Amino acid sequence: MKVVERLEELRTERDRFQGVFGLVPTMGFLHEGHLSLVRRAKQSCDHVGVSIYVNPTQFSPEEDLSSYPRDLDRDLDLLQREGVNLVWTPKDEQLYPPGFSTWIDAGELTQKLEGAYRPTHFRGVTTIVAKLFLAFTPDIAVFGQKDAQQAVVIQRMVRDLNFPLEVVVAPIVREADGLAMSSRNVYLNPDERSAAVVLNRSLKQAEERYAGGERDADALRAVVLDILAEEPLAKTQYVSVAHPETLDELHGSISSALVSMAVYFGKTRLIDNVILG
Ligand code: PAJ
Repeated sequence: MKVVERLEELRTERDRFQGVFGLVPTMGFLHEGHLSLVRRAKQSCDHVGVSIYVNPTQFSPEEDLSSYPRDLDRDLDLLQREGVNLVWTPKDEQLYPPGFSTWIDAGELTQKLEGAYRPTHFRGVTTIVAKLFLAFTPDIAVFGQKDAQQAVVIQRMVRDLNFPLEVVVAPIVREADGLAMSSRNVYLNPDERSAAVVLNRSLKQAEERYAGGERDADALRAVVLDILAEEPLAKTQYVSVAHPETLDELHGSISSALVSMAVYFGKTRLIDNVILG
């Protein structure tokens, strides 16, 4: 496994690989969710590259950029064991040189759901992901359903800008008790950690009601909100039942929907989702 820091080195190493190349972009502090993306990439690709970069432009000033968990040695060890071929650990100076002013903005899609609470987040994500695509020139890039809106926004960017690659979206990996794996779960104290299973519990309930024939978007939203309200440590920011591609909020009868949420446990903001239908 080759680990490089400078863009020039990355390009040189990338050029050595013939055949289908897969990319898994990450912000490090890797868990089984990230590793599942690497395994998914390996299924379809001859070579797999991973980026580890905590991208400052997707954090707003009041978010957790400086405290975001990091452990590069452990990450590299995990990636080595997965048989990753190339890892890029760039530094801020090269990705955001002084006077940086060029952004990629996927438009309206980025102002819904998460974007309503994190207005500049997706501009940071699309800009860095475009830069990663240009650097790695992957044939396939794998993202997680955990960040459902991110996956939709990146698919839109790839389509709109004709990036010559295929985006694969892989399922959410969960802890044994159902909590979706996230680098941010380490922020939870033991009480918050136990309480956080309510996210998955509420989504499961929505799934069950949908399976039982419930098709009313407002009723499904209410089911989720009610279960979250039963957990005193959970402070719900939003629960959405939205169109899986346009991300428009749905009302009345639905065929399929993205049910998603953001919930605070203390200072920690967790997101989770499920697709119905
Ligand atoms: P990060 O939060 O490190 O996540 C990297 C990738 O892992 C994303 O595609 C995310 O959806 C996926 N992932 C996280 N938790 C997962 C889980 N429990 N199951 C399955 N996949 C999971 O997302 C980012 O970084 C950044 O925004 C990035 C795309 C790297 C751009 O900076």
